[in-house]
Amino acid sequence: MSLHAEVQESVGLLTLNTLRVSATARFFMDVTNLDDLRSALALAKKNGLKTLVLGSGSNLVFAGDFDGLVIRMKAAGRYWEQVGNTGATLVLGAGENWHDAVLYAAGAGYRGIENLALIPGTAGAAPVQNIGAYGVELCDTLISVTALDRESDQLVSLDNAECGFGYRDSLFKLSPGRYIITEIRLRLSREKPLQLGYKDLQDYLSETPPEHLTPLTVAEAVMAVRRRKLPDPAIIPNAGSFFKNPVVSADQFSKLQASQPGAVGYPRNDTVKMAAAWLIDQCGWKGYRNARVGVHNRQALVLINHSGGTGQDVLDLAADIRESVKARFGVNLEVEPGIVGGCH
Ligand code: EPU
Repeated sequence: MSLHAEVQESVGLLTLNTLRVSATARFFMDVTNLDDLRSALALAKKNGLKTLVLGSGSNLVFAGDFDGLVIRMKAAGRYWEQVGNTGATLVLGAGENWHDAVLYAAGAGYRGIENLALIPGTAGAAPVQNIGAYGVELCDTLISVTALDRESDQLVSLDNAECGFGYRDSLFKLSPGRYIITEIRLRLSREKPLQLGYKDLQDYLSETPPEHLTPLTVAEAVMAVRRRKLPDPAIIPNAGSFFKNPVVSADQFSKLQASQPGAVGYPRNDTVKMAAAWLIDQCGWKGYRNARVGVHNRQALVLINHSGGTGQDVLDLAADIRESVKARFGVNLEVEPGIVGGCH
């Protein structure tokens, strides 16, 4: 089938996902602006192809080939809006690299996203899972998301409340495929307090005099802390935390704690968010590896593709981990990255 000059056929996705699993897209197209995006969608519709919008592939697992059109969102660009004495709005094109944007904002003295340094991925993917780390989530600074609504074919602006953010959750996860994010707006501040409550961060910065604490020093501390515990996907293929931290009832947690005094949980109202890493670690998985895939030896929440593993190898390991955590603690773990391709 001949589709369009810019559409490539049978494109390998190995280097386009940070787990480095091999998969093939039947068709593939890079888009750098709204017109490209609309024409990619029109082509897919005309040819009855399903679509997948790809950022930098850092939060997904290809369970097999993708029998449709992969649209890689490369609409870049960043600029400031509504710059005042105390704050400014940073506008980021969906294809912007997230970490570069963090360093750009922090380097300019703006506070709000410095704790999210070194999170792999693009700005457009950030709202989908409401990225979070070290006590900060994207939804703390996000004003709005501009997206192409495929139901109405209109470009819409969704404010923070409309995005339905939760822990690693959003409207975009709930209605997969409906919205294609093209731009995000973040309200950053020159004066709001830095978020240094997370223990690892506090320890790292304990000797830094308060007058030296800037958004950039915090971003650098976050980078150092992350590098100590989390594998760099450019060197050790992974997709970050493979499971969400499960939320259990306060009652279930206190029963569990009675037999396991070391259980790690963060109370919230009458629920407790448990550390999935602790549960997995207790089941003996940390550092486990088979011929192809394994569990990181410094963070049990991160699955690694050591040597040519397929997406299915990773998912099989995830299933074994979930089963053992369920059997030992009665807690269900939910896979965090999106699973695409194949027939899962
Ligand atoms: N722990 C273990 N074993 C381990 C690792 C951790 O028992 O192998 C225990 C630690 O003792 C600690 C607790 O688990 O008390 C929590 O560990 P950590 O502080 O490393 O955070 P996490 O809950 O495992 C979350 C995010 C990370 C984020 C960190 C820091 C999720 C799913 N993961 O991990 O996000 O960087 O907090 O804020 O919420 C990601 O989403 O890809 C990601 C890396």
